Amino acid sequence: MNFSAEAGSVRGMQMEEISKLIAKRRSIKPALMDADREISLDLWHSLFEAANWAPTHGLTEPWRFTVYSGDSRSEVAKALQSAYKAETAESEFRPEKFEKMGKNPFLANSVVALVMKRDPKGKVPEIEEVEAVACAVQNLHLAASAVGLGVFWSSPAVTYGESFAGFLNLEEGDKCLGLLYVGWPKEGMEWPVSKRTDAMAKVVFKP
Ligand SMILES: Cc1cc2nc3c(=O)[nH]c(=O)nc-3n(C[C@H](O)[C@H](O)[C@H](O)COP(=O)(O)O)c2cc1C
Repeated sequence: MNFSAEAGSVRGMQMEEISKLIAKRRSIKPALMDADREISLDLWHSLFEAANWAPTHGLTEPWRFTVYSGDSRSEVAKALQSAYKAETAESEFRPEKFEKMGKNPFLANSVVALVMKRDPKGKVPEIEEVEAVACAVQNLHLAASAVGLGVFWSSPAVTYGESFAGFLNLEEGDKCLGLLYVGWPKEGMEWPVSKRTDAMAKVVFKP
């Protein structure tokens, strides 16, 4: 992928290709991923380069990513489980959910922790930093979709809690925004279809 940001507009780009990419970006469930198929370092660089071009108020660039592959996925599994144990009332505790948390990270080739790094000077409102990270994730997801790589954004409640923040060594003001499961689709997987309601029903034009 070429992320040249030289001067000059992109007017004239193939709008048809871009709209297709946007509409065909899909969440690919980890169960549909081939966990053993490696993702090259070159491709990771391209994905994070795409993320890095997200809009960012005040150029704070608040996105931070930690990639867990191979054995380190067990750290995520354990952190999810211990957060669930610590933060769930006994009456609400579901053993099957606990088990799943221990297994899910191994369904994908890699799990990426998504973090919003709070600007120490609080230059812009927190919500804008969260928005910027979401834009970065969308960029990454679009770039992944363009090469057929599966991505799934997962945000179980525990990923927002204190226990998981401790696991990620978050500092004051930082926030975990969930996990991205990343992996090549299993051979033969049909790229999923989705639907949206009418775009224009969510828009008001004022004369
Ligand atoms: C911030 C965010 C968090 C999400 N968390 C979850 C989640 O915890 N579980 C889940 O099944 N999907 C989650 N999703 C993915 C949505 O389910 C998915 O985007 C939606 O079904 C539309 O499918 P598509 O992405 O293929 O268009 C999340 C998406 C976003 C933007």
